[in-house]
Amino acid sequence: MFTFQTYVRRRDELRHLLQGGIVLLPGNRESAANYTSNAYHFRQDSTFLYYFGLNLPDLAGVIDLDSGEDVLYGDDFTVDDIIWMGPQPTIAELGSWAGVKKTAPSAALQGVVQTALTQGRKIHVLPPYRGETELLLQSLLGRKPEVSVELIRAVVSMRDKKSPEEIAQIEEACETGYRMHTAAMRMCRPGVVEREIAGAIEGIAMQYGWGVSFLSIVSQHGETLHNHCYDGVLEPGRLLLVDAGAEAVSNYCSDNTRTMPVSGRFNRQQREVYDIVLAAHDRAFEVARPGIPYRDVHLEAARVIIEGLKSLGLVKGSTDEAVAAGAHALFLPHGLGHLMGLDVHDMENLGEQYVGYDAEIVRSTELATKACRMGRRLETGMVVTVEPGIYFIPAYIDKWRKEGICKDFIAFDRLAAYESFGGIRLEDDLLVTSDGSRMLGDRRIPITPEEVEEYMQRD
Ligand code: GLY
Ligand code: MN
Ligand code: MN
Repeated sequence: MFTFQTYVRRRDELRHLLQGGIVLLPGNRESAANYTSNAYHFRQDSTFLYYFGLNLPDLAGVIDLDSGEDVLYGDDFTVDDIIWMGPQPTIAELGSWAGVKKTAPSAALQGVVQTALTQGRKIHVLPPYRGETELLLQSLLGRKPEVSVELIRAVVSMRDKKSPEEIAQIEEACETGYRMHTAAMRMCRPGVVEREIAGAIEGIAMQYGWGVSFLSIVSQHGETLHNHCYDGVLEPGRLLLVDAGAEAVSNYCSDNTRTMPVSGRFNRQQREVYDIVLAAHDRAFEVARPGIPYRDVHLEAARVIIEGLKSLGLVKGSTDEAVAAGAHALFLPHGLGHLMGLDVHDMENLGEQYVGYDAEIVRSTELATKACRMGRRLETGMVVTVEPGIYFIPAYIDKWRKEGICKDFIAFDRLAAYESFGGIRLEDDLLVTSDGSRMLGDRRIPITPEEVEEYMQRD
C-alpha cells in the first residue's frame, strides 16, 4: 500500500466533494469456493482499497463527512486464528497504516449506522456487487441499501484520473504483463495445449504480483470474445489469441492482447487482417488526447478497419457512410476499450452511465457505437485500454446476412473465405497525458508482425 498520507488525502478530498452524512465502505470478505475454509483467492474491494489501502478481509471503513472523523471497523485476531494464520497486525496497527486514528470492533458498526439513521443523516453507500456485501448492508441498514449517486459521482471523479504513484503501480503490472505475453509467444507452437500456456502465464502473474487481473483468454478461437476454454491443441496455420493481464501486489492492473501465428509465421490472409488491426490500434494512440470523446477514438479505429476491409474486398461503399451505419460492428462487436486502474474494467461495478458516460455523452443505441463501454471525453491522467479487433464470427455473419444488416456495405459472398479465420485483437494500455497519450509499460510486448515472428523464434 501507499503511505498513510495518500489515504488521508483521498478521504479528505472525498469529504470536500460530498454534502454531509457518513460514507460506509465495506471491504470484501473471504468468499467460499466449495466450503468455508477453502476460499477463492481473496480480492479486496477496489474502492475500499482506494480510500483505506488495506488488503485484508472483514474490514469496513466509515468516513464521517460532518465531524471529519474516519473509523476503521474490524476484529483483532485471536490466538486460535494465529495458530492457523501466524502473527497478524492489530486493527489499531492497520488503522495507522491507513492514517485512521480511531478503530472499533466490527460489532460496533451496527450501532453507528443505526444512530446515523435515527438522526436522519445520509448514509452513502455504493452499489454492492457481491451477495455477501448486499446482505451485510441490508442487515446494517435494516432495509435494502439505497445507493448514493452523489457518492458514485464523487468516487468516479477521483478514481478516474491516476496519480503518479498509481501510474507507477500500473507500470509494474504492465511489466508482469510483458513477461506473461512474451512467455506465451515463446511457448506457442504446434502440439502445445492452450492450457499449458494459460497455466504458465498465470503462474508468472502470481510470481510477480497478486495474480491475474481477469481470467486469461488463451485460444485459437479468438473470434469468441471471452473464451475461457483451454482445451485446444495448437494447430499449424491457425492464430492464437492471448488476452491476459496482471495485478501488482497493490492490485493495480494491466490488460494486453496479442495474436500470434501458431506456425511462427503469419500467412498472407492473416497478415492482411493483422495489419489492419495494428493500423487501427496505432490510429487510436495517435488521436487520443485530453478532450476527445473516447467514442470518437472508437470511430477513428472503426474508419481504419472499414478502409482496410474495403482494400480486401470485404466491405464496399463510402467509408463515412459505412461507419455511420455501423458496418464495422460486424467485425468489431465490442468497444475500443475501457478505463483501467484498481479494476481491470475500472469501476464497472459503479455503473457504466457514471464511469464511461456522463451528462454530455450517453450510451447510444446506434450500431456504430452501442458496444462502447467508454464514450466520454478523455482527461489527463486517465488510463484506458486500446483494443481494436477484427473477428469473423460465423453465427453473427449469418445473422447479418439473413437480416440484411448493412447489406449495402458488407460483401457477404466474400466472407466465406474467412469462415475459419478466427479473430485478431491487439490491446495495450494508454495513459492520457497533458498533450496526447503514451503507452504504459517500460517494455513493449512485440506487436508488429516482424517483431512477433522474430520473438517466436527464440528459445
Ligand atoms: N478481457 C478483458 C478485456 O480486455 O477487456
Ligand atoms: Mn484484455
Ligand atoms: Mn481490455
